[in-house]
Amino acid sequence: MDINSLKQRAEDYLELCYNELNKSHLLEARLAEVHKEIESTRAYELLSFELVYGTKVAWRNSNKCIGRLFWRTMKVFDCRKLSHSEDIFQALLNHIKTATNEGNIKSTITVFNAHNGIRIWNPQLLCFAGYRDEKGRIIGDSKQLSFTKECMKLGWIPKMGQFDILPLVIQVGDNKPEFREIPEEIISIVPIEHPFIDSFKDMGLKWYSTPIISNMTLEIGGIEFHAAPFNGWYMGTEIGARNLADESRYNMLPKVAKLMGLKLNDKNILWKDRALIELNSAVLYSFKKHRVKIIDHHTASKQFMEFLRKETTEGRDVTADWAWIVPPISGSTMEVFHTEMNNEVKSPNYFYQQEPWSTK
Ligand code: ARG
Repeated sequence: MDINSLKQRAEDYLELCYNELNKSHLLEARLAEVHKEIESTRAYELLSFELVYGTKVAWRNSNKCIGRLFWRTMKVFDCRKLSHSEDIFQALLNHIKTATNEGNIKSTITVFNAHNGIRIWNPQLLCFAGYRDEKGRIIGDSKQLSFTKECMKLGWIPKMGQFDILPLVIQVGDNKPEFREIPEEIISIVPIEHPFIDSFKDMGLKWYSTPIISNMTLEIGGIEFHAAPFNGWYMGTEIGARNLADESRYNMLPKVAKLMGLKLNDKNILWKDRALIELNSAVLYSFKKHRVKIIDHHTASKQFMEFLRKETTEGRDVTADWAWIVPPISGSTMEVFHTEMNNEVKSPNYFYQQEPWSTK
């Protein structure tokens, strides 16, 4: 980024930050300091409170996220001082452990240095491997086929199971990426069973407790943090209506429908729809049973509407991506479905970035 746009972005963010935090009397001096820093080093560092607030506003601005009512409550680990891979691994393990919090999931972000080329190769800190067997059939999560392949290239031994947690893979600068197995005792995995369809558990389905996105760039005031893993807690449909249900993921609907005794060739009985509902109810039931925090889509939709009202009262307009906000099942039963949304992209924010292994 050229230094004029960096200055402009810094100014825009610091103005927002200082105004919202009632520190506008300090803004002018801070801007002068930042301008000087940018002129002499072509970069600048955020103060700790500026970083912390930026991570939260970036969440507030995440148009695809239905869970933003809680944007102020994220726990922030400022790890900008770390540069050794060993310390970075430790910080990631610490994130998994404290965010999972024995099932009482806490929204958490760990921010690494923006300038020393740290990249986390995992799309999420916890994710299930995907492989092809000798016959070309997919085992596990097909979404992770290419990341799993990269892990194997680095020397990770595939286990060929349906639900194998992949190792953490990190890279510092141009060094070779390193991988590290995550200790089992800090991972919590929920076996999926149904409240009254007994044979459900025989499918052996499970999912992990904590979705920790680790492949997005956090941008605050023109500074790009390419390694800043963050998490919330699951909404049931992410697992029940997408991860386990999509034809291109675990594709479980035909199996679920069969064990419900539904006829798959009768178009009028809506077997996919029925199977989908039971699978989603099983996910919510199982997480509750194992005391892992999860939210159903109806409650999430209500919370999003409350977020809209609160933001409006505080004089901010909310931007949102309707296609992402409306949950993938039972859309019209929720108020979000009937709400118009403006999908403009604001800063600070979280952005997609290229997979690190495809940039070489
Ligand atoms: N949809 C993703 C998954 O199923 C997780 C995205 C973040 N979700 C969240 N509830 N914070 O793993």
